[in-house]
Amino acid sequence: MNYATTFLRTLAVRRKLQTLSMSSAVHENVKNYYGSRLETSDDLQTNAACSMPSRPLLKSACEALKQVHPDVCKRYFGCGLVIPEKLEGCAVLDLGSGSGRDCYVLSKLVGERGQVTGLDMTDEMIVASQKYVQYHQEKFGYSKPNTVFVKGYMEKLSDAGIQNNSLDVVVSNCVICLCPDKRTVISEAYKVLKEGGELYYSDMYASKVVPDSFKEDPVLWGEGMAGALYWQDLITLMKDIGFSTPHLVAGSHIVVHNPELQRKTGDVKYASGTYRIFKLPQSSIKTKALVTYKGTVPDCAECFEFDASHSFKTSVPVEVGAEMAAILQKTRFSTDFNISILDTPDPKQSSTPQYCHLSPFLLADKLGSSVKQCSKTGH
Ligand SMILES: C[S@@+](CC[C@H](N)C(=O)[O-])C[C@H]1O[C@@H](n2cnc3c(N)ncnc32)[C@H](O)[C@@H]1O
Repeated sequence: MNYATTFLRTLAVRRKLQTLSMSSAVHENVKNYYGSRLETSDDLQTNAACSMPSRPLLKSACEALKQVHPDVCKRYFGCGLVIPEKLEGCAVLDLGSGSGRDCYVLSKLVGERGQVTGLDMTDEMIVASQKYVQYHQEKFGYSKPNTVFVKGYMEKLSDAGIQNNSLDVVVSNCVICLCPDKRTVISEAYKVLKEGGELYYSDMYASKVVPDSFKEDPVLWGEGMAGALYWQDLITLMKDIGFSTPHLVAGSHIVVHNPELQRKTGDVKYASGTYRIFKLPQSSIKTKALVTYKGTVPDCAECFEFDASHSFKTSVPVEVGAEMAAILQKTRFSTDFNISILDTPDPKQSSTPQYCHLSPFLLADKLGSSVKQCSKTGH
């Protein structure tokens, strides 16, 4: 081995060690933040847990949310609502489940045949969420619980007993912004999803690349502001790992209400974004298709609002691009559409996605969604 190779290898090992030690310092800070510093969502320094979803909740999700125990809702620290459609019978994993609010909503929606796993690294959160398993099992009338909470790191899902290719849906609510190594987290989510599975998650995004100096501030880390991804970087990251293009579902502005943090964050703006992203088979469709929605997705009899820029009216044929055709044909929505593959090649197949449809900031501006009156419990 020559000197240059040895030098490069040493450098790579050193970088890896630096990342590992940074990761564990961040994990300890975040555990402390959510385990002991924050009692309720009112203690957060932004309106993240109060930013309103920029689209109405499905009726069944709304009803399920009303049935979640108030103590669980009190410690909700998310920044969106991570409840996709058509969950009956699904196996779902919630990354960074906190007190378990989303898991219990999901528990109701997947039904007794479904399974929900909440994963969190903070002992206090695991204890708080586990306390209400039996309560919700009885409330939903199930003969046995369909929800478990496991302690573990999103960066090491197999250590927490999560099998590869085992899940229909992975959700996460305002957690990936707390992780220094996002590539590992997204790759792990990719591994545990079945082919055709969906990653549906809300997170905090920054309007530009966050300066390194933010990363030294424990409160900025705890609030997700130091680790928030520049929203455009998400698109490249997902494509690199093998996921579909992210589809923006909802977006709202996040307001920092602590003046000291406002000063520290300067001209970096934050928004909450919910994206749906799919793990598609390699041999995907390359041409356009004509698709007709059958009106069969529960709660969506007249129209299926797939994302902020695609809604499918029942019985109305529409032409879609190759990737959307693959999503509708290869996922749990395949039985809800009649699909005719066309001969027309899709020129967008290999081009850069249209960023303007993917910005949570632009969507929030368009819908005027920002701080509105809401109860922080989500009720
Ligand atoms: C902002 S709170 C959100 C909790 C929950 N999703 C909600 O909506 O209320 C972040 C949670 O993610 C957990 N967390 C952060 N980083 C994690 C990691 N690397 N692995 C597992 N859990 C993590 C924290 O312990 C905390 O409970």
